[in-house]
Formats: sequence, C-alpha cells, structure tokens
Amino acid sequence: MKTSLTILSLVLTVVMMSCQPQSKPSVFTPAVQKINPEKFAQTVDGKQVKLYTLVGQNGIGLKVTNYGARIVALCVPDKNGKPTDVVLGYDNLNDYINRPQTYFGAAIGRYANRIGDAKFTLDGVNYNLVANDGKNSLHGGPKGYFAVVWNAKKLSDSKIQFTYHSPDMEEGYPGDLDVTVTYELTPQNGLKIDYKATTDKETVLNLTNHSYFNLSGEGSKTILDHVMMLNADSITPVDSTLIPTGIIESVTGTPFDFTKPTPIGERINADNTQLKYAGGYDHNWVLNNKSNDVALAATVYSPVSGIQMDVLTGQPGIQFYTGNFLNGQEIGKSGKPYERRSAFCLEVQHYPDSPNKPQFPTTTLKPGQTYQHECIYRFSVMK
Ligand code: BGC
Repeated sequence: MKTSLTILSLVLTVVMMSCQPQSKPSVFTPAVQKINPEKFAQTVDGKQVKLYTLVGQNGIGLKVTNYGARIVALCVPDKNGKPTDVVLGYDNLNDYINRPQTYFGAAIGRYANRIGDAKFTLDGVNYNLVANDGKNSLHGGPKGYFAVVWNAKKLSDSKIQFTYHSPDMEEGYPGDLDVTVTYELTPQNGLKIDYKATTDKETVLNLTNHSYFNLSGEGSKTILDHVMMLNADSITPVDSTLIPTGIIESVTGTPFDFTKPTPIGERINADNTQLKYAGGYDHNWVLNNKSNDVALAATVYSPVSGIQMDVLTGQPGIQFYTGNFLNGQEIGKSGKPYERRSAFCLEVQHYPDSPNKPQFPTTTLKPGQTYQHECIYRFSVMK
C-alpha cells in the first residue's frame, strides 16, 4: 500500500512538472544576467540614465545605456548554442563616467577619429577644437557624444532610438545638430545601427560606434587568433601622430592585406613603420564598395567559439583597431582584466582628418541635407 502511494505521488509530481510552463533559457550569459540596472540608474547633467534590455528573435540580446548611447553587452550563441558576450564593457555607470578614455561601446561624434592639430576651416571660418590626443582632437573631444546623456525611446522589444541635440559650438563644432541613433536586433542575429542627423549651419560630421569585440567572449585573453577578411584594397597611411598623410596606398604585399581571410596576429609584429606608429593595427582601410549602399566590409571569425561577425556598411572607410592601448587596467563586467590586444574595433567611418583633406570624400553637412547611414554587425556560427 505504502509503495503504491509513493509511486502514485512520484507519477503525480512528474505529471505536474511537465505541465509547468517551460521558461525559455536566457539569451544572456550569467555575468550579463547579473548586471544590476540600479547601477546605471543615476541623474547625470540633470538627465536620467538607465540601462535598457533588447532581445531578438533568434538568440541575440543587447544591453544598452543612454549614457553615451553605449552598448554594454551583446550576447550571441556560440557553436554549441551557448550565449557568449562578444563586447567589452563595465557593469556600472560610474566606470563608464570615470574611465572615458577607452570609449567602450559608445556612439562617437561629432567627429569620430582624429582631426589634425585640433582645427579645421569651413566656409572660410577657422574652428578650433580641444586637443585631447597629443596635439590632435579625437572622437569629438573630451565631452563628445560618448559622454553625454541621450534621450531614449524603446520602440519595441528589439529596437531602441536615442536622440541628442548638440548645440552650436559644442566642443568647438558649428551648427545646432540633431542626431538620432537607432539600435535594432534583426531576425538574422544582426545588430543594425542607423545614424541620422540634420544641422542648421554648415558643419562637419562623422558618426560611428566604438564597440570592442572579442568573439571568443569578453575577457578572453586575445583576438590575435581571430581570422579576418577586409573588403579593402588600400589604406590611408598615417604620420607618427596617426593623422593620415593624405595619400591612399595599396595593401598588396604589406601586413595590411586582409583581402583574403588571415589571422589578425600573423603579421601584427612585422617590421613596418605604420604598425610601429600605432603599436599594432589602428588604421583606416579604404573600402572597395564605392556605392554608399550597405555591403560586406569585413568578416571576422573566432576559432574558439565558432562565432563569425560580418560588418556591413555603405561608409567609405573602416578603422580597424587592435586594442593596442588596453593594458589590463580596465576590469570588465565579468571581473576579468582587459589585456592588450584582447579586443578589436571595426568602426565604420569617413576617413580621419577629412575636414583638412579636400581629396578625401567630404564630411560636410549643410542645412537642408540629411546625414544618414546604416551599419550591421551580423553574427552566425561556423561549425
Ligand atoms: C582609435 C585609437 C584610440 C582608441 C581609443 C580608436 O578609435 O583609432 O587610436 O586609441 O580609439 O580607445
């Protein structure tokens, strides 16, 4: 009697368990699940900062904050279906505020990358910027768009829009500029970033995103084993302060030739002046696509996770930076130090210092024109 009761209760338990609604496994890693939104909930410059969560249909998940419109975490499945966080970042707002020099995950403007001698002339007027990288201006100045609070509007579970009004002469740039940056997770496991801007006075503009990727998972020691292809036959070589000389140079026969898939680390320590100036790769590749339509610019693959990332853009250039200035002092959201060359950036862009290089595609925006471009970071696995 006792045995049959025990069997009955066991059967009942199993039946009840199978009737429970199965909770879907999280698209986020345990470390990302642990990020406490309260650690982002602060008022900065009189505006409310928050952490937002976006989830796509096929296993991609994004955490993003309106402080600098920064990507805090981006999780995608690896070759075994396990969520992997492929971007560097912090688990709290204070680190983003106090450690701005890495630009982790940020929207960059008004002018991404460098402007030589921190000055330019537009329509006969000289403009002076703040020099924050030796004598040059980098990433829009000390309080560029990475360090301001954007207005946020969640449009759906997988889409969020950030807007920012950049007043005339902010960080030295002319014109009231209204900027919109929209992040959307696509059914193809892409993160689509759409940029739009209008101005009331002639200005210069170059908007990008500064995510640092490690496709083996953030906190992994290296990206030198990643295999990369860049759809680019030339670069804009630089001087010792990383300002383009103004010429366009073929990559053929140089460590900059990624036209065929090649491990990132294969030639990074080659005896090459351009590599020495930057301590590795930190250059602008001239993309072969000249159409302004979105096309494949880069493909990177981690042999460890099997994760592949394709970068699609209609911009004329892409900055490939191998985290040469990381030095283990940044401690990331899962408690691991970010070592030198443990991440790479692929920043779609106009060429650096274009405002001072009339031979480069123009970065001038006039009243009545709309600046617009789209970049897709698309993820898949190679088994
Ligand atoms: C630049 C690097 C710079 C880094 C800052 C990159 O976009 O090309 O030179 O050190 O940003 O984190």
